[in-house]
Amino acid sequence: MNLNLPTLLAKHEGTFWFAPSASTFAEETDSFFMIILWISTAFFIPIVIAMIWFALKFRKRPGYEGDSTALHNNALEITWSVIPTLLVCWIFVRGVQGYMDMVTPPPDTIDIQVRAKKWDWLFTYPNGATDPNLYVPKGKNVRLLMRSEDVLHSFFVPAFRTKQDIVPGRLNTIWFHPTLEGQYKLFCAEYCGDNHSEMLSDVFVLSPEKYEEKLAELSRPPTTPVAFGQWVYIRNCKSCHSDKPGVINVGPSFAEKWGKEFKTTTGETVKFDEQYVEESIRNPLAKRSADFKSNATMTTQNLTPEEIAAVQAFIKALEDGDITPELDAEEAASQAAEEGAGESSSTNETATGNSNETT
Ligand code: CUA
Repeated sequence: MNLNLPTLLAKHEGTFWFAPSASTFAEETDSFFMIILWISTAFFIPIVIAMIWFALKFRKRPGYEGDSTALHNNALEITWSVIPTLLVCWIFVRGVQGYMDMVTPPPDTIDIQVRAKKWDWLFTYPNGATDPNLYVPKGKNVRLLMRSEDVLHSFFVPAFRTKQDIVPGRLNTIWFHPTLEGQYKLFCAEYCGDNHSEMLSDVFVLSPEKYEEKLAELSRPPTTPVAFGQWVYIRNCKSCHSDKPGVINVGPSFAEKWGKEFKTTTGETVKFDEQYVEESIRNPLAKRSADFKSNATMTTQNLTPEEIAAVQAFIKALEDGDITPELDAEEAASQAAEEGAGESSSTNETATGNSNETT
């Protein structure tokens, strides 16, 4: 699948005020925002002018005696009470209508399960496929059934104008109707710990055909050991262990480790090999590197022997240069933009941001 990221991003960058408008909520939200902004402006300017004018007119000065009696004008009092009250009531009613729209999903929705945890997202699609990115079809109603595994998180896609807290122990739902194909950002909008700011993901609005293709592709793991290893890595390890040299997410990076010897916290010298990876997955804290100063802990990962073998192959391939780390969406977009600008026409398979295409 080939998403032409720079073109999509360039077409609907949004405005000074707004993120791109990619759902039916965007138009409603933005027009309402603009109406309230203009109403506020219409009141703000005359009020400030009157304040300045009165301050000058009635300022203390030689030869000027203030008048201690207050004036009263019924018509004026009623006008400036009734007009703002009516406006505020109208804003309230329209706000409630908009809110009810957002919390009442239509009956025909595509349901996607969302698991939020420190500090990543996992989406499970109707066909059972899972992915850390959110793929949705354009022109269909999508409902998200969201659960948190640990603390309070918040699902926020500015381009859809949707935001919903994900309270642990509760099922939290949200729905939207994507209207514009493209790639957008998904944020966690609730402070949830050290790596809250890293709790990001990408949202892809695809044509219904592309969406079906993507789901079929996601439900089929790659078959070669290294590509399968990367597939397993992305789903189980990546949120804590980077595949780029020197990058610390929560745990140590997997890059440039294979075959190297290091000292553990108990003073033992250990080689980073199949044996070590196997043990670290089953019993993560058995051999901690003395160089890695962090209190971060890791829980035992439930991987099958095939999956562990694949992760071993993947980490080894990273060292051998047989596979390159996946680029993040932003890196892929900027790289694609550079390629588009220069005359370099050589295909760079790392720019696809898609694990299957590296097979
Ligand atoms: Cu999850 Cu902030």
